[in-house]
Amino acid sequence: MGKVYLIGAGPGAADLITVRGARLLGTADVVLHDALVEPAMLDYAPHARKIAVGKRCGQRSTAQHFINKQIVDAALAHDVVVRLKGGDPMLFGRADEEMRALEEAGIDYEVVPGITAMLAVAARIGAPLGHDFCAISLSDNLKPWSLIENRLRLVAEAGLVIALYNPVSKARPWQLGKAFDILREVLPADIPVVFGRAAGRPDERMTIARLADAEASSADMATCVIIGSAETRVIVRETKPDLVYTPRFVKEGAR
Ligand SMILES: C[S@@+](CC[C@H](N)C(=O)[O-])C[C@H]1O[C@@H](n2cnc3c(N)ncnc32)[C@H](O)[C@@H]1O
Repeated sequence: MGKVYLIGAGPGAADLITVRGARLLGTADVVLHDALVEPAMLDYAPHARKIAVGKRCGQRSTAQHFINKQIVDAALAHDVVVRLKGGDPMLFGRADEEMRALEEAGIDYEVVPGITAMLAVAARIGAPLGHDFCAISLSDNLKPWSLIENRLRLVAEAGLVIALYNPVSKARPWQLGKAFDILREVLPADIPVVFGRAAGRPDERMTIARLADAEASSADMATCVIIGSAETRVIVRETKPDLVYTPRFVKEGAR
């Protein structure tokens, strides 16, 4: 029986994986990778059999229980199996289900963290996550929308910067617009909103809007949306893209 490594590929570019992740890929017999993982990333695993799982554009997603079975079967037949997932392997994917399947099968595994989307976006736009923040998935596929609305209101009232993952999809076209409506009820109109699309990939695009003007159509499935707090500011630059930052210092009496 082999060992499984659940490895984070980072946000896209092949050199944004950890050194440990790349080194372990080099030892892999089998790599089960997200279909959208940057192809150059697979060059780290020259000897491995590569199997794409999950969603490709325009295709249906592989059922999670089938992926779990593929990982377990690979570990029963090979020494080193890598499950390569975008960003951090355990964040807003269904890696908990993969981990539980490995636990149930009694297979040894290790998690190798990766750079998650909000950090890749933040690095491109300045320091929007420089003070207290939270991350929320806007997908209501596996949790009720009423819970998401409640959490958005509470974290906005608490003054946290909010990183929104899974803001829209073909099946979830209205949720981000509704989220902006809720946040506009609680937050000042001029709070900066960052639309960080495809950070670390060739088609990367970063845009900044005021909350009052933020439009859901500015985001797609490859976008992480960062909504500032009342402390978040924009540095306007003449010849370079503007920067967004949230200072560590918060004055007495602020929410
Ligand atoms: C299912 S979640 C997976 C998150 C991933 N595990 C991570 O840690 O980044 C997919 C969402 O992550 C965000 N995302 C992933 N890669 C991104 C990138 N390179 N730039 C911006 N957002 C990204 C988008 O919000 C996307 O809808």
